[in-house]
Amino acid sequence: MVKVTICMGSSCFSRGNNQNLEAVRNWLTANDKMASVELKGCRCGGHCGDGPNVWINETCHSGVTPEAVPALLEAAFAEA
Ligand code: FES
Repeated sequence: MVKVTICMGSSCFSRGNNQNLEAVRNWLTANDKMASVELKGCRCGGHCGDGPNVWINETCHSGVTPEAVPALLEAAFAEA
């Protein structure tokens, strides 16, 4: 099970996590991984300056773009 937590704080959300959420959902659906993921939103994680932030398992990824999402997820699922 891969854990993906997307910061829904206003800074991260408006700076790109709205699109990152979409990109994560699209990738999970396209790769048939919806059943193997724990996808959650969280409140501001306190690293707004580095955002948008996405946590995959225990690692915080900063400055995430929708273009970066597939590679991050592929790596996470390869390790799972
Ligand atoms: S809004 Fe995401 S870390 Fe603050």
